[in-house]
Amino acid sequence: MFEEAQYFAPVAAQEDGSVVVELAASHPGFADPVYRARRNAIAALALGYRPGTPIPAAEYTEQEHEVWAMVSRELAIKHAKYATAEYLDGVDRLGLPADRIPQLEEVSRLLEPLTGFRYLPAAGLVPLRDFYGVLADGFFHSTQYIRHHSVPFYTPEPDVVHEVIGHANALASDRYAALYRLAGQAARRVEGEEALEFVSKVFWFTLEFGVMREQGELRAYGAGILSSYGEIEEFRGMDIRPLELAAMGTTHYDITKYQDVLFAAESLEHLEDVVGGFWASCDDDSIARLMASAV
Ligand SMILES: [Fe+2]
Repeated sequence: MFEEAQYFAPVAAQEDGSVVVELAASHPGFADPVYRARRNAIAALALGYRPGTPIPAAEYTEQEHEVWAMVSRELAIKHAKYATAEYLDGVDRLGLPADRIPQLEEVSRLLEPLTGFRYLPAAGLVPLRDFYGVLADGFFHSTQYIRHHSVPFYTPEPDVVHEVIGHANALASDRYAALYRLAGQAARRVEGEEALEFVSKVFWFTLEFGVMREQGELRAYGAGILSSYGEIEEFRGMDIRPLELAAMGTTHYDITKYQDVLFAAESLEHLEDVVGGFWASCDDDSIARLMASAV
């Protein structure tokens, strides 16, 4: 199974219709019955969602809105120093609320006029082919829950801070949004599971954890770095490698710790040429050749 499967807490629908999110014992919210009940309710919203209808609003507590406000404020300070100019333009264009968690429906309303992207609720892990495939149509699957308030700067899973601050600000950029769509088209085009995994790893090392040289320094555009309070301070010291498709598509990564191997684009044009060009035309055969060249 693809590594991302470990990333999300499993969600189980019970026979009586209730939904249970199985948090690991190490999860900061494991022993908090109030948090767990809300996680179950939020997962049930996503499971009950029908395309074409408004995304049901998730109930957040004041404490959770405060977590968003605190993380939002601290990340904005770090973004000014570490995010690419194109991402910062996206932040300005999108205008996310800084003082409360926006509902996904609101994120869609802000995003759609800019780049056509809309959010879809996800209870947990979405199968790779669905998650990537719908990017081609301008849809982004997103979790709705937020991390536990006891550790506002840490989450073991991708929460709404990651999905919205990390991804929606990038999706507000025409040029990054075009790359997301190309990744979706690639995921739809390839047939084999290995080729799909290759496409998704290239996504991981670019739109999730990508960095780029800009005016003589390394800046981040990947949503995983830009939504992580700790990781954003560390990426410049990681093992920075050239933007090579064969390496990105075959390098193993561990989602449970900071990404210690990163791939740098020399510019946004370079990223568009190498990665956008790859997603625009790749197929099972071209990916098989890249995989063979990496061995
Ligand atoms: Fe992500």
